[in-house]
Amino acid sequence: MPIVLGIETSCDETSASVLEGSGDDVMLRSLVILSQDIHKVFGGVVPEIASRAHLSSIVPVVSRALADAGVAETEVDAIAVTHAPGLIGALLVGVCYAKALGFALDVPVVGVHHMEGHLFATALENAGAVPPFTGLLVSGGHTLLLDVESWGSYRLLGATRDDAAGEAFDKVAKLLGLPYPGGRPIEELAKRGTPSRFRFTTPMVRRNDAPDSAEYYAFSFSGLKTAVLNAVRGSEDIERDKADIARAFQDALIASLAEKTFRAANAFGRSRIVLGGGVACNSALKTAIVERTAEIGATVFAPSPRLATDNAAMIARAGLFRFERGERADFNLNAFASLPIPGLAAS
Ligand code: KG4
Ligand code: ZN
Repeated sequence: MPIVLGIETSCDETSASVLEGSGDDVMLRSLVILSQDIHKVFGGVVPEIASRAHLSSIVPVVSRALADAGVAETEVDAIAVTHAPGLIGALLVGVCYAKALGFALDVPVVGVHHMEGHLFATALENAGAVPPFTGLLVSGGHTLLLDVESWGSYRLLGATRDDAAGEAFDKVAKLLGLPYPGGRPIEELAKRGTPSRFRFTTPMVRRNDAPDSAEYYAFSFSGLKTAVLNAVRGSEDIERDKADIARAFQDALIASLAEKTFRAANAFGRSRIVLGGGVACNSALKTAIVERTAEIGATVFAPSPRLATDNAAMIARAGLFRFERGERADFNLNAFASLPIPGLAAS
């Protein structure tokens, strides 16, 4: 069975992983994730600092992943690397390293789309999280609602028109004086909040939305962010109100995600829903989707936090799929800041 080395450097984690298997029968042999904590000081990812940090950690991170797996470089059958989307300088570190290592070892390199990686992450620990399913990918840079007929065959139903879901969490966290990244601090604070003391409209959801309307599956979170800003400005005692505002924000954002996910699963008759991306760490999100889709009896799969946020195991997993389909990158493999997910059907 093929052994794949996965490499991920699209944002602020330098990660490498070794995976062995074929089809959906795979075994994770190692996963190393080095998070660049330096960005916390700046309240967001500083691209140039991210590239430099990847440069200094890529070699030891890959060596460590191989050592943890007990796999020699010469046993690797393919190298899967994230080549899009992401920070261009950060991506280039992984892409150049993968190409050089592939050349040195005479091993093929496969370019992987980061969001396709997120789609595969949950399958690494849940044998049931395989197509056909409704996929909801919610990260710091993307919000994508997909119908997944089979691996490699995707229908993009909805995306965000402005901020990504994770970006909304991060910006609202800043407004409330919480650290970066803001998703987890907001989730913790919201647990202590009183529901409905503040109320924000659920974005992009109207009861009479028609299935063929452009809004039916679409997302938008910048209006919600502005509503939070107004609530913060209007508060007479922000220390008293902060948890309640966080709760109302999270409830509104999650209600929008849950409603659109229900619409997609219902319209396509899917009995499985797979979540991915950093925001999928949020347990209130999974609970809300389980509740909203109860009437159609869908099973909801969410990855554990280690696999929900950026990691190379999901890249190795998506890379194995593309490798087994015969895909090989040549030395022209390049990095792209944005690129549509591969395998999109015209909708
Ligand atoms: O997928 P990811 O690790 O990186 C990107 O590809 O963007 O996602 C990071 C995002 C951040 O915006 C972070 O605030 C959010 O995921 N996040 C969460 C939670 N944990 C991380 N959002 C909501 N609730 C959480 N528990
Ligand atoms: Zn990501």
